[in-house]
Amino acid sequence: METLYQQVADELKAGIERGVYQPGDKLPGVRTLSKQRNVSIATVITAYRHLEDAGLIEARNRSGYYLREKSQPLAPEPLTSRPPNKPVPVNGQALVLNMGKASHDPSVIQLGAAVPDASFLPVRAIERAITQAARFHRDNVAAYEFPPGLPALRRQIARRMVEAGCPVHPDEIVITNGCQEALSLALRAVTKPGDVVAVESPTFYGLLQVIDNLGLKALEIPTHPRTGISLEALELALEQWPIKACAVTPNFSNPLGSCMPDDHKARLVELLASHNIPLVEDDVYGDLGFSTGRPSICKGLSPTGDVLYCGSFSKTLAPGLRIGWIAPGRHQQQVEYMKYVLNLATPTMPQLAVASLLEGGQYERHLRKVKNDYALAVSRMSGTVMALFPEGTRITRPEGGFVIWVELPKDVNSLELAQQAMARGISIAPGPIFSANRKYQNFVRLSCACRWDETAMKALSTLAVLVTRKDVNSI
Ligand SMILES: Cc1ncc(COP(=O)(O)O)c(C=O)c1O
Repeated sequence: METLYQQVADELKAGIERGVYQPGDKLPGVRTLSKQRNVSIATVITAYRHLEDAGLIEARNRSGYYLREKSQPLAPEPLTSRPPNKPVPVNGQALVLNMGKASHDPSVIQLGAAVPDASFLPVRAIERAITQAARFHRDNVAAYEFPPGLPALRRQIARRMVEAGCPVHPDEIVITNGCQEALSLALRAVTKPGDVVAVESPTFYGLLQVIDNLGLKALEIPTHPRTGISLEALELALEQWPIKACAVTPNFSNPLGSCMPDDHKARLVELLASHNIPLVEDDVYGDLGFSTGRPSICKGLSPTGDVLYCGSFSKTLAPGLRIGWIAPGRHQQQVEYMKYVLNLATPTMPQLAVASLLEGGQYERHLRKVKNDYALAVSRMSGTVMALFPEGTRITRPEGGFVIWVELPKDVNSLELAQQAMARGISIAPGPIFSANRKYQNFVRLSCACRWDETAMKALSTLAVLVTRKDVNSI
């Protein structure tokens, strides 16, 4: 078990490795950090001494601790993507199902699906909340909770959105079966078959599947690994193609982990509004930023824009609860009706449980802890990949969430790599599933929210051997 000071030191180190602090930057003061982390001053000082011993930081006389000028080199990042500038139907998504199925197999090391290991989830608190829901809400539990969904849950969600700078009323929220259903309802509400949807490139394969399922076409827009979708490229695409919707994950996108700066978000909303095009905003990772405050919400930046906001508790509480929501703005009635037609209602029991976890403060407490856990997990995984993988490997530097996007040397075929890895009991997500054009042949996405033990490290070294194609038969 890690001691408290080691935990604090590891978290600081994670921030340093991901470039939160630049060489020469002052680190948080001892008292500030002790308050923030709710640990004693002695613990913080021991943590700082530990990092000083490791040569990462230096104490400057009476001025505090600073990041040393010569700190560890960061892994190079992938460049802004350059997808083909043409709308296409989506294909080749069958692979995703295999990855989903593998995520249930306990004998497989899970680096593929973006599903957090149970050790990152508040399973005990969920168990208690479900037991209490069953005991205290017997009548409700047995009944349908028709759209828009449980009022107590919608109130809590609206409160959180308001606190994040997005003023919505509980009646403007519809509870869904996860964010996936929210995305599907959003695109159903604003498109018809054959329409073109602009998406980030690479993008979440679940979104591509919805586009496929609704008979739409995807237009992949160049995307920067840290600042997200290129607004210049989107503007040109809007002139050139009959785009009917734009779907973006502004905060800690999947797989890049990009987070759009506030001014980009505002410009995105304005640009789309000026073309009368709705924005589908997927904010499923928004609560999982590693540092400072919660990033802003596009919908909150424009009270008049046509933004359909989608979220869920799958990455924070548990994906199996299947609780998500949509704030569809002017499409409220249509979305409520479509949700009703599709599956009548979201199950009542998990709605009650999530409402009580939000009301009781367990959600917020869990977030504080898990954000640090994810930061550490990303840092560990990135550091290990950088140490083991061959020259030419590039890694994203997400500031939130728990996936990294890894560019491998050009001659690596990630679809073959995924097959070879699976034959050795390791699941990874190959690059082409994140593209309608099946680009990113030499990229993989790795989920860092796995159980970090000898087996995980061995899996990474096996992957490194497969990537370098050194003595593959020996593993
Ligand atoms: C960006 C993004 N949106 C939506 C989803 C789907 O979330 P849910 O499990 O809540 O349906 C995921 C899950 O991986 C995701 O990464």
